[in-house]
Amino acid sequence: MRNIIIKNAKEIVTSTGFSKKAGEEMKNIGVIEDGSIIITDGIIEKVGKTKEILKDFDTEGYEVVDASGKSVLPGFVDSHTHFIFGGYREEEFNLRLQGATYMEIMKSGGGISGTVKATRDATKDELFELGKKRLDSMMEFGVTTVEGKSGYGLETDTEIKQLEVMVDLDKKHPVDIVRTYMGAHDIPVEYKGRTDEFIDYLIEDGLLKVKEKNLAEFCDIFTEENVFSIEQSRKLLSKARDMGFKLKMHADEIVQLGGAELAAELGVLSADHLLQASDKGLLAMRDSGVIATLLPGTAFSLKEDYARARYIIDNGGAVALATDYNPGSCYTNSIPLLIALGTIYMSMSIEEVITALTINGAAAVDREDTIGSIDVGKLGDIIILDAPSYKFLSYNIAVNLVKTVIKKGQIVFDKN
Ligand code: NIG
Ligand code: FE
Repeated sequence: MRNIIIKNAKEIVTSTGFSKKAGEEMKNIGVIEDGSIIITDGIIEKVGKTKEILKDFDTEGYEVVDASGKSVLPGFVDSHTHFIFGGYREEEFNLRLQGATYMEIMKSGGGISGTVKATRDATKDELFELGKKRLDSMMEFGVTTVEGKSGYGLETDTEIKQLEVMVDLDKKHPVDIVRTYMGAHDIPVEYKGRTDEFIDYLIEDGLLKVKEKNLAEFCDIFTEENVFSIEQSRKLLSKARDMGFKLKMHADEIVQLGGAELAAELGVLSADHLLQASDKGLLAMRDSGVIATLLPGTAFSLKEDYARARYIIDNGGAVALATDYNPGSCYTNSIPLLIALGTIYMSMSIEEVITALTINGAAAVDREDTIGSIDVGKLGDIIILDAPSYKFLSYNIAVNLVKTVIKKGQIVFDKN
């Protein structure tokens, strides 16, 4: 049954809207007190004050959930993850705690290449089982849509394997998956010292086959010193756009390379990380309407300074927040941690954080017309907190308050 009524909520945080919110607008989360929601056939039919919504409404054929004393929000959208991978890198993480840097590890043959080997060796079934567990965990944190990237194959067959696993998981798991091709995640040993040739290979082989099989909606690249240059990124992304991919970038994460400027020039949908992005680059992104997807879990895990959320928002830019869940730079999918980092270390208000995790996350995966807010006509993707106010999300530090998750009008998780 996909007909459900959530009634008597202490408050409904609607995050209302059908497009990304920038600057001042990020504060507006549209709270309805004493509210109810009617979801019919998985789609939100009504939302508003309980008295008005339920008056004269025939509830037959509806499951009714009483949300008295509880806060209700749209499902979270985790718009940047690398959740399909083989193997783990706990050694490397602990070396980093002792002082080694991410780039030193990468240069000495560790880092992403370790995960590439393990992912190439893994069977589809193994990756599927791992992916399923990880999606279950995301769902418990209230995530109802996730973006997932390939990028641990680097050669096309494994990239396709990762994307096909996501296709299967999307069919079999309640959490919706948006797929991104990220063949340009690192330079594989086979192409060491031949990055330009590798870019050509990605264009002629990777992009082509992924497109032919319709396996990804987005194309992403790790634009970084000693990985892919601005020119190489421009070449790959322009080609990808010509082929019909939407664009994302890992930009200015470790070194200020001008990734934010390139993101603005190309008008990519979102540019992510941005720890080192210049003022000029961030303002150019704002002017081109590029969403800044910030990943504080990664900065935390790498012990780097946080991206400048306040500067971006105060200057009228749009920020999304995501976990960057991956086995190297950020092995956590914790939304409560993300909220704590956003509010405490990045000085975002809890309202801005909610916008960043809902409607702006949805916009960062080009789904703002169907998810990311509790508006009539959108998917019935809803979470109910075991708390009377959304303000507990920041206040009850790093604790998961999600009690119930509803996906397309069905309860898919409920903590008693
Ligand atoms: O977003 N920066 C590049 N890619 C990932 C890290 C992937 C990994 O270390 O396995 C990131 O942080
Ligand atoms: Fe990433």
